[in-house]
Amino acid sequence: MNDFIFKENELYCEDIPVREIASKVGTPFYLYSLATLKRHFNVFNESSKVLNSIVCYSVKANSNIAILNFLFKMGWGADIVSGGELFRAIKAGVDTKKVVYSGVGKTEAEIEFALKSDILMFNVESLAEVFLIDKVAGKIGKKARISFRINPNVDPKTHPYISTGLKKNKFGINIKQALVAYEKAEELSNIDIVGLDCHIGSQLTEISPFNDAVGIINKLLLKIIAKGINIKYLDLGGGLGITYENEMPPHPSTYMNSIKKILAGYDGQVIFEPGRLIAGNSGIFVTKVIHNKDAGSKKFVIVDGGMNDLLRPALYDAYHEIIPVIKKSGAKLKVDIVGPICESADFLGKDRVMNGVEEGDLLAVFSAGAYGFSMSSNYNSRPRVAEVLVDKDRFSLIRRRETYEDLIDKEIIPDYA
Ligand code: LLP
Repeated sequence: MNDFIFKENELYCEDIPVREIASKVGTPFYLYSLATLKRHFNVFNESSKVLNSIVCYSVKANSNIAILNFLFKMGWGADIVSGGELFRAIKAGVDTKKVVYSGVGKTEAEIEFALKSDILMFNVESLAEVFLIDKVAGKIGKKARISFRINPNVDPKTHPYISTGLKKNKFGINIKQALVAYEKAEELSNIDIVGLDCHIGSQLTEISPFNDAVGIINKLLLKIIAKGINIKYLDLGGGLGITYENEMPPHPSTYMNSIKKILAGYDGQVIFEPGRLIAGNSGIFVTKVIHNKDAGSKKFVIVDGGMNDLLRPALYDAYHEIIPVIKKSGAKLKVDIVGPICESADFLGKDRVMNGVEEGDLLAVFSAGAYGFSMSSNYNSRPRVAEVLVDKDRFSLIRRRETYEDLIDKEIIPDYA
């Protein structure tokens, strides 16, 4: 995080005062540091070299094409979950031979688009889906490379909404049905089985659930190989957590080395799909104080950014550190930092102790680079905010702020209305 640093009392992103960027682009906005992004890329990339691996960045974490373009130029592929993400990845210059496609509900049109783009493989989440992929591939005269996403029934010990590897979750194929799935897929003429996949959840801060899952998957892998099926790719998904408050997630190299031991007998390639780890602490969300509101027992700081811009606090009760861009002196107050949206869940932080912030002050909401902008919406008819990328002493808009016209330009009033 040290590319977002206070010099004296003022927050900088690399060599530029955040205040200066705010005065040029207005508020609220997302602000990313290229230096941090590079550092995260390097740490993960170097760590992954202990294994014969391919890294497919998880596009959903931050899908701005400038961020994608940087990661693809450095040689990474993409983990996608929709036709829209594939479109973005292609526009950002991905090598489609390094694209893996997950998700429980791929449509025929999306499957066709991915087949025509010649992606590396589909991570298939049900038998029904493999039949559909076989059908679409047959229709357009292609062979689809697939892996099955297996649900190992391991508790990732993270927020229930971002747990995906428990048998009650909709994701993956029940491990008990896995061998049958592989056998059935072998009979399909337009399917080429190339992999095995598993992703148990996001924001994991302990290594043991990964070890447990990879142990289970490794046993299955040996059984599949024993059947004469060639597994070239073992996709272990994403999920490594980051520090928002005081979490101490494992370092990527600890994780990789631990996995390497478990997979000692496997000689194919391993795929990783990191998202949050790369983008999360590479970005902040900058918002401006509109009012201070003293409601007696409760004090509110009302800001111009809301849950439509950064949904994580409202949806997961997620903690993001919030610090004034210019550090203040003065009395410490306990406040809720809330947005202008008409929902009581519209908060960015609760019960935060702050030195009396005033109208017009800028606040930085940290660790907002992943699942920030990508989960934002136009709720309450709020134009989506700008995104800015800093490189040392220069910055660029990588997405302009939406206008009111943008809000309605796809809407149509029919004759009969
Ligand atoms: N691969 C698959 C198949 C996934 O479903 C995900 C995330 C990833 C990779 C990347 O996981 P990561 O490395 O970022 O943990 N909106 C939530 C997070 C949802 C994650 C969904 N899947 C949040 O804001 O915490």
